[in-house]
Amino acid sequence: MSAPESFPEDLYQTLADFDQSHLLTWWNDLSEQAQSELVTQIQHINFAQIQRLYAPGATNQKTESPAQKAERATRPATVVRLEDRSSSPAESEEATKQGQKLLEAGRVGAILVAGGQGSRLGFSHPKGMYPIGPVKQTSLFQILVEQLRARARQAGQPIFYFIMTSDATHDETVEYFQQHQNFGLAEDELYFFKQGTMPAVDAESGLVLLAEKHRIAVSPDGHGGMLAALKNNGMFDVMREKGIDTLYYHQVDNPTAIVCDPEFLGYHQKANAEVSVKVVSKRSPDEKMGIVCDVDEKTQIIEYSDLPHHIAEQTDEEGKLLHWAGSTAIHIFNRDFLEQIANDDDRLPFHQANKKVPYIDGSSKQVEPEKPNAIKFERFIFDVLPEAETVLVYEIDRQREFNPVKNAEGQDSPQTAHEALNRIFSGWLTSCGVTLPADATVEISPLYAVDETELKQKISADAEFTSPVYLGE
Ligand code: UD1
Repeated sequence: MSAPESFPEDLYQTLADFDQSHLLTWWNDLSEQAQSELVTQIQHINFAQIQRLYAPGATNQKTESPAQKAERATRPATVVRLEDRSSSPAESEEATKQGQKLLEAGRVGAILVAGGQGSRLGFSHPKGMYPIGPVKQTSLFQILVEQLRARARQAGQPIFYFIMTSDATHDETVEYFQQHQNFGLAEDELYFFKQGTMPAVDAESGLVLLAEKHRIAVSPDGHGGMLAALKNNGMFDVMREKGIDTLYYHQVDNPTAIVCDPEFLGYHQKANAEVSVKVVSKRSPDEKMGIVCDVDEKTQIIEYSDLPHHIAEQTDEEGKLLHWAGSTAIHIFNRDFLEQIANDDDRLPFHQANKKVPYIDGSSKQVEPEKPNAIKFERFIFDVLPEAETVLVYEIDRQREFNPVKNAEGQDSPQTAHEALNRIFSGWLTSCGVTLPADATVEISPLYAVDETELKQKISADAEFTSPVYLGE
């Protein structure tokens, strides 16, 4: 068999070698433009990798699954507990000063991952555009950017924001920022970089699926795709040039994350860690959080989807969850540590998820599967943890810092995040001595006050407010 007319011969050979020639089934029906798009997509697929991932038994690569590893998981050996920090304020103040110095030296950059499709929330735009401010319906993006700006203003140094998007979210995100003048962030302090994609394969056959005659079914390659994306888009070079060696990493879904938290930065530095992670106590064994644990003396995160139920529900002698430490997905990474891993593409494993992926079948019929038919491959950034010499595990107050928007209703929904913001801001005002009307709705822009301490410098106890209260720049 030889390549169809105008299809590159060497690429045809690759398809044949990996039994993926079906991708050319409709080649002769396609316009020149569509043919060229298909060729580009095929060129970007690493078929050897797909084969290895789909049928690992066919190669020598036999790695242990996360579920198998979980059988040996123990609690992380060292955790900086919230209680201990509260009872040693001097240590905590010293850490805050140390973190503040890092910010003042311009050594900290922030990474926001915003490439996910937010399918659980059922919002048809990038999740960061979701309106969440209790009074002004400020979006998740705006709240996070304003926090970053407030922190930078305190430090007297810009904090550069590196925002990862995907094919699914890029254009709309960039346009949204442009429409709002980047929420006040200077153009040269903001970098968007796009993550890559991975093709979906048919679960039965391992054949790469076609979404259309000329279009391969692909999805974002997981936030672990961040490493390749940072590297391929020159972001590590930018960071190096600017003297940024410490990266505060967070997800777009949590409006109460303390962006570039100086105290956390200080503890990270004091511990000489390459990676740090903020954890909270899981509400229940089946809460959808990755658990932070030790396996063979290496601190790591096992994702909830990989964690067998019987292990998730294990308890200690006091009846408390053995694996209580849920990852909030707030991290600090040392830039050089990430760069080393990014330079060796095989170091970060792929995870598989069985999903429903629409495709066209051999008779060009569009199929909308009713049950999972395909495998998607994703990398998780937290799989860098076991590569580190030192990981700092740091417990935080869930009420204050972890109120994500995940589901349309119920727990971790817009309603709970909205209530959390209102509760936090009302609490700050009350601690300034202010009496608020019952059921007051309060929103405080980080540009007015980034925390309670800053608010106290601005508000006197006899100030009077009527609901709704909005304090802005
Ligand atoms: C995530 C973590 C989980 C953690 C929880 C805390 C993963 C796989 N799991 O769960 O361990 O306990 O948050 O809230 O992250 N994203 C991308 N590109 C992608 C996929 C995701 O940028 O290809 C971004 C999303 O935009 C989002 C974040 O990563 O900001 C989390 O993704 P999501 O799939 O929502 O993870 P969760 O199930 O919430």
